Amino acid sequence: MNVAIFGAGYVGLVTGTVLADIGHHVQLIEVSKDKVSRIMAGISPIFEEGLESALARVRAKDQLRATVDPAQGLQSAKVVFIAVGTPPGPHGEPELSQVEAAARAIGQHLIVGGQTVVVNKATVPIGSAHLVSVWIEEGFREKHPGERLPDFRVASNPEFLREGSAIFDTLYPDRIVLGSDEGWVLDTLSALYRPIIEQSFTPPPEFARPSGHHEVPVVMVDAVSSEMIKYAANAFLATKISFANEIANICERVGADAMAVMAGIGLDTRIGSRFLNPGAGWGGSCFGKDLASLTFTAREYGYQPKLLEATVNVNVAQRLLIVKRVQEILRPVKGRRVAIWGLAFKPGTDDIRDAPSLTVMEELLRMGMRITAYDPVAMPTVQRMRPDLPIQYGVTPESALEGAEALIVVTEWPEFEHVDYAQIRKGLLRPVIIDGRNVLNEEKARENGLLYYGIGRRGTADDWVMGRGL
Ligand SMILES: NC(=O)c1ccc[n+]([C@@H]2O[C@H](COP(=O)([O-])OP(=O)(O)OC[C@H]3O[C@@H](n4cnc5c(N)ncnc54)[C@H](O)[C@@H]3O)[C@@H](O)[C@H]2O)c1
Repeated sequence: MNVAIFGAGYVGLVTGTVLADIGHHVQLIEVSKDKVSRIMAGISPIFEEGLESALARVRAKDQLRATVDPAQGLQSAKVVFIAVGTPPGPHGEPELSQVEAAARAIGQHLIVGGQTVVVNKATVPIGSAHLVSVWIEEGFREKHPGERLPDFRVASNPEFLREGSAIFDTLYPDRIVLGSDEGWVLDTLSALYRPIIEQSFTPPPEFARPSGHHEVPVVMVDAVSSEMIKYAANAFLATKISFANEIANICERVGADAMAVMAGIGLDTRIGSRFLNPGAGWGGSCFGKDLASLTFTAREYGYQPKLLEATVNVNVAQRLLIVKRVQEILRPVKGRRVAIWGLAFKPGTDDIRDAPSLTVMEELLRMGMRITAYDPVAMPTVQRMRPDLPIQYGVTPESALEGAEALIVVTEWPEFEHVDYAQIRKGLLRPVIIDGRNVLNEEKARENGLLYYGIGRRGTADDWVMGRGL
């Protein structure tokens, strides 16, 4: 099928590459010339496991192209995805200018006599399928006054990929949600996704099919319910993490070990063990923005979503807990240096949007502290996107410890699980670890003379109760 995709970011580029890899012809339409030329050269503008090789493959076969020109990109497209950014606006509702620009461009280049399915893949406020139709229609009428509007429909097909495993998630999704009232629209989208739904494609070399992964469930609903499914899913996941953090905070006070408690409740199949890790809070480009949008919509319709508000409030406090702990242990903090391990909002990505590391670093800098940071992939992103943060960078995790009086772990990169504790002890001026992800080995840290403070850990509580802090 001929597919056009507006926006070659995390969602658009991954979706386009996978659709091209399973045999479709994909045309990416992207405003950034730099991204377009990199993609055309087969080079990924973002870090995502397996993307670079898959992109090189589909470029070599000419299954995927990129352009800045909507007219060129929309030629003969039967399905047009909108996968542009929907950043948070000042009052919680997402800012839709990128969606509007894409929709108007689609309207201007609609194929007369054809049937086009336009798909909102970006996460858009409830009711946006209708709004996008209106923008498309206005775009068409501006360009073709007096002409008959071609047949098109706007469907919702929310994206659930996780950065860090985006290609895998697109090839082997838990479900595909399609939102439309029209049978032919649902048929077209089902046909597009058939190789994934039926798992009939040949797995690419980078991502073998997981055993037991067969037919993918397809949820076919109206567009509004589909839009809601996306928000409800992210709200639930964020709430689950905030719940784990709330319980961890109570654990610390009563001397229970939150990790053991989470393992204990996670084995209950009604609860499940994922998204139960206590830590420095959730972040990323989606959870905060989507919760703000859902909260905004709820209030707009006269409902106060108290649980969603609490989810956000617990998360803000959780990020600041790290800062509070630094202050309590190193006080007075002015002029002291700390090492931060992990800048990306989670492992496996270079994305730092709404990353807890940024909140922690902003607060520590505001208090007059010095920071040396290390992240295996996200340091260039921070340098590029936050040049205002006066921080130094380490070439290795160990080199970031030089002159630091504490090590703070903010992102649970797997490489941090295998560190040499004797080296950490040697590298730090004071033997303090604040493990904001409970990822280091508490026992080994203590054996090497390090004071270890996790989140919701028993040892943390004991140190405080017995006054064994520094
Ligand atoms: N990143 C994720 O993990 C994820 C997961 C699920 C859903 N989503 C949703 O998907 C959407 C896209 O997210 P993302 O992370 O890919 O964003 P992104 O910022 O990485 O990518 C958006 C891209 O769109 C381009 N763009 C902006 N206006 C354009 C226009 N008028 N025409 C063509 N291109 C244009 C931008 O230059 C950018 O490259 C958002 O609504 C987001 O909430 C994201």
